[in-house]
Amino acid sequence: MGFRYYLTTPIYYVNDEPHLGHAYTTVAADALARYMRLRGGDVFFLTGTDEHGQKVERAAREKGERPIELADRMVDRFKALWGRLEISNDDFIRTTEDRHKRATQLFFQQIYERGDIYKGTYEGWYCTPCETFIPETQMEEGNTCPDCGRPTERLKEESYFFRMSKYQSALLNHIEKHPDFIQPVTRRNEIVSFVERGLKDLSISRTSFSWGIPVPGDPKHVMYVWVDALANYITAAGYGQDPERFARYWPANLHLIGKDILRFHAVYWPTLLMAANLQVPEKVFGHGWWTVEGRKMSKSVRNVVEPNRLMDEFGVDAFRYFLLREVPFGLDGDFSRAALIGRINGDLANDLGNLFSRVLTMVDRYQRGMLAGPKEPSGPLSSGAKEMTEEVRGLMEGLAFHRALGRIWDFIGEMNRFVDEKAPWVLARDKERKGELEGVLNALGEGLRIVALHLAAFMPGTARAMWSQLGLSGKPEESVGEDLWRWGIQQGAREIRKGGALFPRIEKEVVSVGGETPASVGEKSGPAGSAKEGGPKISIDEFARLDLRVAKVLSADSITGSKKLIKLEVDLGGERRTLLAGIAQTHKPQDLVGKKVIVVANLQPAKLMGIESQGMVLAAVADEKNIVLVVPEGDIPPGTRVK
Ligand code: MSP
Repeated sequence: MGFRYYLTTPIYYVNDEPHLGHAYTTVAADALARYMRLRGGDVFFLTGTDEHGQKVERAAREKGERPIELADRMVDRFKALWGRLEISNDDFIRTTEDRHKRATQLFFQQIYERGDIYKGTYEGWYCTPCETFIPETQMEEGNTCPDCGRPTERLKEESYFFRMSKYQSALLNHIEKHPDFIQPVTRRNEIVSFVERGLKDLSISRTSFSWGIPVPGDPKHVMYVWVDALANYITAAGYGQDPERFARYWPANLHLIGKDILRFHAVYWPTLLMAANLQVPEKVFGHGWWTVEGRKMSKSVRNVVEPNRLMDEFGVDAFRYFLLREVPFGLDGDFSRAALIGRINGDLANDLGNLFSRVLTMVDRYQRGMLAGPKEPSGPLSSGAKEMTEEVRGLMEGLAFHRALGRIWDFIGEMNRFVDEKAPWVLARDKERKGELEGVLNALGEGLRIVALHLAAFMPGTARAMWSQLGLSGKPEESVGEDLWRWGIQQGAREIRKGGALFPRIEKEVVSVGGETPASVGEKSGPAGSAKEGGPKISIDEFARLDLRVAKVLSADSITGSKKLIKLEVDLGGERRTLLAGIAQTHKPQDLVGKKVIVVANLQPAKLMGIESQGMVLAAVADEKNIVLVVPEGDIPPGTRVK
């Protein structure tokens, strides 16, 4: 067995249906779990539900159910969603299970026996939606919760207390000695200043309701729901029931949570563990929150994003991809359908989907559907694949999912350029270049295998489809171990099984996520929309005077003395032209060679820096630092008219 990797999601409250936020944490954890398995790790991936406490008890009462009935119903909803999202958890814990009751009582007992729990009276405020005791000093005007802004309640009840104050310096020491314990760094700083302001003892039992785990030996008290909930992480690792398993899996490598519940995980949890003489988890990572089209997700605004609805429309993998690609993990992000559709059409349908189908079509056409591993261990594309694999490994270990995906897409871009440069359709015309053609197509096949392997962590269904269309046996997730990541490991000829497109383009009218307010995106805004911002309208005849053409970049050079300009030699379909493009701040000349661009071919020539530019390259310019070239979506010969 390889290295062991124990990672967890928060366990979700069962008072309500799962939504985008819950899916986010769980999909991120799943991508990491899958990646670690592909790397040969002995992974234990845990998720589950948090079923006790006042909040759930009240929600059940409002619905006219017993708490356990509500919990049973909601657990089915969570499990169904995780099934559909292909979440590969190894265990699903419910806090109402017997194994958890026993482990939590033992945990409480241990701390009690070590002298860090005492009985007293809690008098103060409580926020039921957050299940938090709020010290008098942090109370806001109007007695609302400083975290969620909702009304709090005054409590006065007998309670057990945990001597958290005793662990203040031990916790600060731990954080200092383990700089990776709390991440991202900004969150660690927040926690450090919170702890430095002074830790108070923590109330850890309630007597005014009964939906919880009874305190051992004093059953009129039920345990504070956060103590009960946090203990799930040790229950599932075998605490008190399976010492061998517990020794293998505890401490956890990673608790993946949202930033909202960091204090519970980075202050309460480690101090409780220290008091029970147990090890502290290696890392707690607090990711950011999603808003929806700029607003907080909330039932009253009716903008709660239901993952099932999005998956009905766009598919499971597009949704998974979007969640992890769109926003740097750790920062807040905004959800919009327009952004999701943009990612599907751009990254998935265009960059990945087109490359995949182009390559398989050529293998069909020029090699009668046969693909083999590349002959030379260091053939074309091999160093690109190797660098990508190494870098993605580091990025995944640092939980930089968006950058890992970005890096995989850089390699996809490299492969797309390779196709354009090598032009297999030209090689195919020449019998003498058969060997060269084979080398190119086999390298592309191997590159796609490596891409599929990486994508198996993020988009398991897509990776499986790629695997099988590439003629590989089994499933990518069954293939574990370091060898598989090596270029050229897959030898021997095999027959591909070309199937349908991986990601069809979305060509639809776009309405907002909640389905309430229509929101337009680029695709929808027609000429009238652009005319409003862009000046007077032109007639179709005026437009027809523009001679727009596809051109292929043959060479590109920087120009001494110019920070902005690059000199391009392009093929305009039999005609060679020199063009100057103001893209030096955003593009490297060597990256442009082989690219197809769109040029205005009938523009009056102009001299700049002593060079005559015979046309203009089209680009979308947001600002100086954000310029993207307009490129043809598919493979089309230079000189083709754009209209
Ligand atoms: N039951 C506690 C956790 C106990 S863990 C020992 C709880 N549950 S919860 O159902 O409220 O889920 C909280 C988690 O859901 C957050 O930490 C976060 O991971 C996720 N999210 C909920 N809404 C979210 C967003 N709008 N955006 C991103 N994630 C959010 O707290």
